[in-house]
Formats: sequence, C-alpha cells, structure tokens
Amino acid sequence: MNRRDFLYRTGAGLAWLVTPALAVGTEQKKRYLLQAGEGFSNLVPDEDVQTAVWQYNRQTPGPVIRIKQGETLQIPFSNKLIQPTSIHWHGLRIENRMDGVPGITQSVIEPGTEFLYEFTPPDAGTFWYHTHNRSWEQMARGLHGVLIVEEKEPIVVDQDLVWVIDDWLIDRDGNIDESSLGALHDWAHGGRVGNLLTVNGKSQPEFPVFRGERIRLRLVNVANARTMNLRFTQVSPQAIAIDGQPIVPAPLENSALTLAPGQRIDLILDMTMSPGERMAMEFYLGEEAMVAASLVCDLYKVVREVPLDTNIQLTKNPLSTTLDMANARTVDLSIEGGAMGRMREAVFNGRKLPIQELVKEKKIWAINGIAGLSDEPLFSVERGETVVIQMDNKNRWPHAMHIHGHHFINIDEGEGFDVVWRDTFLLNPNGKKRFGFVADNPGKWLIHCHMIEHQAGGMVTWFEVV
Ligand code: C2O
Ligand code: CU
Repeated sequence: MNRRDFLYRTGAGLAWLVTPALAVGTEQKKRYLLQAGEGFSNLVPDEDVQTAVWQYNRQTPGPVIRIKQGETLQIPFSNKLIQPTSIHWHGLRIENRMDGVPGITQSVIEPGTEFLYEFTPPDAGTFWYHTHNRSWEQMARGLHGVLIVEEKEPIVVDQDLVWVIDDWLIDRDGNIDESSLGALHDWAHGGRVGNLLTVNGKSQPEFPVFRGERIRLRLVNVANARTMNLRFTQVSPQAIAIDGQPIVPAPLENSALTLAPGQRIDLILDMTMSPGERMAMEFYLGEEAMVAASLVCDLYKVVREVPLDTNIQLTKNPLSTTLDMANARTVDLSIEGGAMGRMREAVFNGRKLPIQELVKEKKIWAINGIAGLSDEPLFSVERGETVVIQMDNKNRWPHAMHIHGHHFINIDEGEGFDVVWRDTFLLNPNGKKRFGFVADNPGKWLIHCHMIEHQAGGMVTWFEVV
C-alpha cells in the first residue's frame, strides 16, 4: 500500500486528497469517485421490467468520465460487490501499476475495500473502463463505462454524444440469464452472445437533434463477445478517430462499419435531414437489420441551413508512430483451440495437459501452446524497442486481439499518422497479420482476445517492457 492508498483508507485522508497541498507540481487534478455495486436497470423494451445488474455509481452503463488532455484523474474506487474486482482503463497508455490487472499489476480489490486509481492519460480520445476480474461474468452483468479525454483544442461540434453498445443475454422474465454464465460451450465457440441489444443501457433509444447540427458520435462496443455490424440511414458519417487515435477524416464506406468487442470509433454526422425526419443506426446480421438507436430531428428549430465546413481533423496524440523495422523484435503469436480446432494439448500452470484435462480446467484456447497466464512473459523487450507481432489465427473463429498499454498498427497497411493505430484488432478465422508498435511503456502488459469468454478460456498472455 502506498502513502496515498493509506491516506484514502484512513478516511481522514479524504480531505487531504483534495487540498492543493497534495497536488503534484502545477498540473490539474480531477477527482471522480467510483463505486461498484448491485442495482436495477430497465434494459428491456417493457418499461415495467427492471433487470438486476451490476453497476458503477448506480448507472447502466457506468458514468461517462470526462477529463481534459493533460489533467490527472484521481479515482477513489470502492467495491460494494460480493466478488473481488478491479478496473482496467482500456486503451489508455498509462502507468502500468494503474492498469488494473489482478495478479499482474495489482491485487484484486476485495469486497468492502477501496483502491485509489490515479493517472494522467497522454492521449485525447474515446476510451473506456471495465472490470478485469472474472470479466466473463462481471462485464456480462454490466460493469463498464466510458472515459473521454477531451482534446486541448477541440473541434467544433454542436453535440458530443456517446453511444455505448451492449449485447445482453436475458431470460423470459427479463433477468440476466445466469445459467449460461461460464458455459464452456460458449467459451469454445463465439463467446456468450446475447439476445438484447442496448445503446446506453436502453433498447432502441431516441436522441433529439436539430436540423443543421454537427454531431460528434462516439461509439463503444462493450459487449462480451458480439462483433457489431452497424450502418447509418439518412446521413453519411465521417470517421475521425479509431480506438481513441485520430485518423485522417474519411467517409464510412456505404455508411457502414464493423465494431469488434472493445473497439471504438468517433464519427462526425451532419444533420441534413428535414425537420421531423429521423436517422437510424441499424444493427445488421446478414439480410436482417434492426434499429439500434436513432436521432430525431426537431420539427421547428433549425440550427443552420448550410452545414458547417470547419475543420474536423483532430490533432495527433503523442504516440510513437515511427517503427524501427530494421531492428525490430519479431514475435510469433499463434492462436489455437476452440470448437473444431483440433488442439490436442497445451501447457496449463506449467504442466502439459491433454485436451481432456484442459476441458476440465475450462482452458480450451492457447497462445503458442500455453493456455492462460504463465509466470514467464511471452517476450521481454527494452523500452523504446520496436516490436512486430506476427499473429497467426490457427482456428475457426474470429478474435478481437487487444494489447494493453500500447496502440499498434497492421504493418502491411503502412505506417504513420494516416494509418489506423488501434488497441484492439479483429483477426479473421485462419487469418494472419503482422502488427507493429513501439514498446515505450514500461511494465507488464496483457495481450488477449476481447471476446471475454475466449480470454477466460485461455487466450491470454503477457509481455514485459523493461
Ligand atoms: Cu478491455 Cu484486458 O481489456
Ligand atoms: Cu477470441
């Protein structure tokens, strides 16, 4: 426990924390209390039905936390759940000891105890936070929220909207289907996919807009396992950032996009509809489509007749985008297992086990022949080294591969600001991709599939930057 933790735990320290005496240097500090606990939420279309969920600050999804780039965020977190938990700040390139991974960067936060998170995110953008303990259950029960780091020089928009897209598995009575939590069949297939799509915790919500408005829309896929195919009617959105990192603004092809679990996209939408008209974001699966959420244009008020033509190009974040390919460390990462995957054996807890034994341990996925976390890192590099990971997805399933503490690119697509730097990439079944990044953040970092049941089933490893 460090000095700040202690001050917080003693209670008397609470007052201390807000006094400028403890502020580091001259930087700005923002304090935000978070509490995880049980509660109820009206998720299903029937207004009378409340679903028992797990929440941050009694909200589903958790509150949107907003800070300015350069500010330090201090989060006294208390766990009022019946299970130990932790919070991971997804996509934020922060100090390792604040990364929220039990067993790797911190101990679990036991029920009835607190932990003080504090960090200064270097990047502006759309990020999120979620539990990182028993995530296959705790995320399915609703433990996630959005964290926005606002640009120092923001672009001009009339509304800045956040749409948190989730996929719940609900039984006939409107309760979370608990019998399927932990079901090995799902873990070996595409994960636990749901039957109820929500945006900001509501079924098919509507948001009021005015003709002529420019909307910044931040989409976050917080689902455990479902990759969302989305498309927009009436408007042609432009993408301006992906997984929190700015891109050169580009229109969405066919006004459609794919968002894998964990991924984000920031869009600019100009409300060129007529008063009374609506625009829908549809979720589609093959031929079938349904409305996920809509923007409804006000009948009377018009903001402007001619759309804005101000700049929508965001300023680059302080991300190292120059890869030293000549001296890069190359790492092979091969993913095996799953249903129809013919994996015969893998190492689990230091022992090589045949698949029958692995199944008993619920470890049915492996990275380089190892199921789950081992004591040794997959690789260890020096700070500043360029890493190239050759991912080989040797099985029948797509995977949303996430790296903690770093953003990375598909190097076959190029290098620099005009390509996409993600923290979560979707790999196709039997797909191979080479990813590059500069390992500039010291510590122990996870690599795992963000289809959370795959992670729980063994598709997780870690590396070290020393
Ligand atoms: Cu958002 Cu380790 O994950
Ligand atoms: Cu996966």
